[in-house]
Amino acid sequence: MSSGHCMTGKKIILGVTGGIAAYKAVEVASRLRKAGAEVHVIMTRAAQEFVTELTFREITGNPVNTGMWGKVAHWNVEHIALAQMADLVLVAPATANLIAKLSIGMADDMLTTTILATRAPVFLAPAMNSNMFSNPVTQKNLETLRAQGMEIIPPASGHLACGVDGVGRLPEPVDIVARVEEYFCQGQSLKGRKILVTAGGTIAPIDPVRFIGNRSSGKMGYAVAEEAARRGAEVVLVLGVSALPDLGNARTIRVETTEEMRQAVLQEFSDSDAVIKAAAVADYRVKQVAGQKIKKSDDDWSIDLVRNPDILYELGQKKEHQVLVGFAAETQNLMEYAKKKLAKKNLDFIVANDVTMPGAGFQGETNIARLVFRDGRAEEHPMMKKSELACVILDHLEGIFRERCARVE
Ligand SMILES: Cc1cc2nc3c(=O)[nH]c(=O)nc-3n(C[C@H](O)[C@H](O)[C@H](O)COP(=O)(O)O)c2cc1C
Repeated sequence: MSSGHCMTGKKIILGVTGGIAAYKAVEVASRLRKAGAEVHVIMTRAAQEFVTELTFREITGNPVNTGMWGKVAHWNVEHIALAQMADLVLVAPATANLIAKLSIGMADDMLTTTILATRAPVFLAPAMNSNMFSNPVTQKNLETLRAQGMEIIPPASGHLACGVDGVGRLPEPVDIVARVEEYFCQGQSLKGRKILVTAGGTIAPIDPVRFIGNRSSGKMGYAVAEEAARRGAEVVLVLGVSALPDLGNARTIRVETTEEMRQAVLQEFSDSDAVIKAAAVADYRVKQVAGQKIKKSDDDWSIDLVRNPDILYELGQKKEHQVLVGFAAETQNLMEYAKKKLAKKNLDFIVANDVTMPGAGFQGETNIARLVFRDGRAEEHPMMKKSELACVILDHLEGIFRERCARVE
């Protein structure tokens, strides 16, 4: 997948410290900007001995911060504002001095103060003479920073400016930027895909106050929709009757009856890349829905039910490029029913669960599932959280997308 778009609009603070490789930071800034990032440079006092602030200002199109006490361009409480707005802080090159200062929490200039104040991930690209790098105190400092969650981009080996060969060279700017892109693209594996998910139960109204429903809580489909959105997909969640709130990062369409769900799904189907139908759809509806509340009498009461349209079957008939995933909630003959459903509805795979097992099925936070595929393969999963099962399902979906890409190539 092309990763350039992952950086679009990301606010990156590029810290530049006083090493001989500071000139390479110009290319880092340039590449970050070309990849779509908004780059804000903070230079240490020593860095300004190596490169000028003007170069970074021109390359990034933003004012460059050269110290805590100078004129402020436009930030309010500048070090805090920069620290708060950052999506990521990258220091390239990072001197031994900066690494030492960070390891003890010093904040005696704009860069160290910003790093101490930020919650954004911090990436350091150390560059120095190989003896400085291998010095146990530098290694210990790096270890301290790593343990705090900072990412250390390992220096390359080669000829150093001080005339010796060894470890300590700043990696090529292209590689540094690739690492940053990789970070932003993480979890964006479904970017550019539209995923349609159904969840919750549909109901069959009897009269204005009564309905026939089922026990679906919507949690399984909701977890799938949540995870797909987290992976960068455009998600449409068609949610039946469920106490769950609208999903952030996704479009939630609320429906009650099977026909409403059918309409919503068909509307969204043609440009979807995959449909994951986790909803518990009412198979029958009441033949004659009463306009007014039916009054109780002393007699027994029977209701005529008629068959609802089978949405999943309809999608299976219509499907072109879409990957279709179904669920089978059964109380007996799990595998047999699941295999039949997979074939009849033209699914790519089916998630089967025996809802009678403790830890599986409706309402709860966990599920026990078997995934059954078109080639007859079945994969059995132990009890896991619905959010974990959502990951398993989407990993398989991504596998199918990848296979198709490979076939097209
Ligand atoms: C010509 C020259 C080159 C230097 N190159 C490096 C270097 O590559 N890496 C490093 O850690 N320090 C290097 N130093 C030492 C740093 O500039 C010095 O430790 C300084 O205090 C770093 O300040 P800063 O970390 O605030 O930028 C160099 C010094 C000079 C004079």
